[in-house]
Amino acid sequence: MEVTNRYIAIKNHIDGAPKESDFELRTSALALSVDPGSGDMVVKNLYVSIDPYQVNRMKNYSSSHKSIRFSVAITPGEVIDAPGLGKVVASGNPKFEKGDLVVGIVSWAEYTLVKEESIINKLDPMGFPLSYHIGVLGFSGLTAYGGFFQVGKPKKGEKVFVSAGSGSVGHLVGQYAKLFGCYVVGCAGSKQKVTLLKEKLGFDDAFNYKEETDLKSTLKRYFPDGIDIYFDNVGAEMLEAAVANMNNFGRVALSGVISEYTDAKKRAAPDMLDVVYKRITIRGFLAADCMNVYTDFLSTTLDHLRTGKLQVLEDISLSLENIPSSFIGLFRGDNIGKKIVKIAEE
Ligand SMILES: NC(=O)c1ccc[n+]([C@@H]2O[C@H](COP(=O)([O-])OP(=O)(O)OC[C@H]3O[C@@H](n4cnc5c(N)ncnc54)[C@H](OP(=O)(O)O)[C@@H]3O)[C@@H](O)[C@H]2O)c1
Repeated sequence: MEVTNRYIAIKNHIDGAPKESDFELRTSALALSVDPGSGDMVVKNLYVSIDPYQVNRMKNYSSSHKSIRFSVAITPGEVIDAPGLGKVVASGNPKFEKGDLVVGIVSWAEYTLVKEESIINKLDPMGFPLSYHIGVLGFSGLTAYGGFFQVGKPKKGEKVFVSAGSGSVGHLVGQYAKLFGCYVVGCAGSKQKVTLLKEKLGFDDAFNYKEETDLKSTLKRYFPDGIDIYFDNVGAEMLEAAVANMNNFGRVALSGVISEYTDAKKRAAPDMLDVVYKRITIRGFLAADCMNVYTDFLSTTLDHLRTGKLQVLEDISLSLENIPSSFIGLFRGDNIGKKIVKIAEE
């Protein structure tokens, strides 16, 4: 049997903020069968992850294109691969059977032809909603956990600052830090998000960065004794302000610089004398570097979820057509928590 597979593509490379007209819905014919022994599978996509890094893949040039295979350049008109999960509808891979739930790299499409060499695993939902497996129990969770513990190297009682605090990664970082015994302040882009951080997620404090005119003095106010760990999701002037307020031997876990993705002119220029004399470590990292803590991450996170200590924020839109607006919304701060698009019912 053959279906018309609908997918989202970019029409052109995108070098600034993405807009609806940069995207189109395209179709291609797809056989819902594969040759036995080919190693390939056809997966019906159920949930796909909407992530800021994709915008770097959409550029003409980005250093991300040559770093790891998840982040190679996207060609206009072609299918866009993305983290997600789905159900196997045909399998030529002996490790998978029709009907299996799988999680890994699928695509912004109704169906994905998953090649043998792709990153895909069987999914055991373990009693949790399917969406958790591409958020808190997936890459976002691993990024938060690995970045905080491996790169941030926290000690109990240390002072932690997290930007994009209500986002997919940020809301988990703040909670891991609190559960570990740190003092945590987050920033976010609206009053509603700030209230959520303080009242639902248990951050010690939070502020709306859009209402502040001098971020260096804002951080001085929230951290009179200095910052030990800055988990940076945004870059630019927030990174400069955090470095200015770091303590000696402070660590910056540089997860991403979303404010620079769509505006290269915003590039951060932290005071490098601060970095030298305060012996600050600024270290970029990728979730893929955190696989050595994966077992710890999973058992700790499952435990926190089962005991109700970890709150999960998800922001789920419905249907393939809403992928462009969901994606664009990341750069406007529309989402609260992990942005996901549900494509189909199980
Ligand atoms: N290193 C890795 O392996 C890895 C893995 C996943 C994610 N990341 C990075 O982590 C960061 C967060 O990703 P996420 O998936 O958790 O996304 P997210 O935080 O759920 O969504 C993006 C959020 O960023 C904030 N934002 C957007 N534009 C901004 C700007 N110009 N200045 C300040 N804040 C802005 C918005 O919240 P506000 O309302 O607060 O502005 C928005 O809701 C990104 O930089 C991403 O690339 C890295």
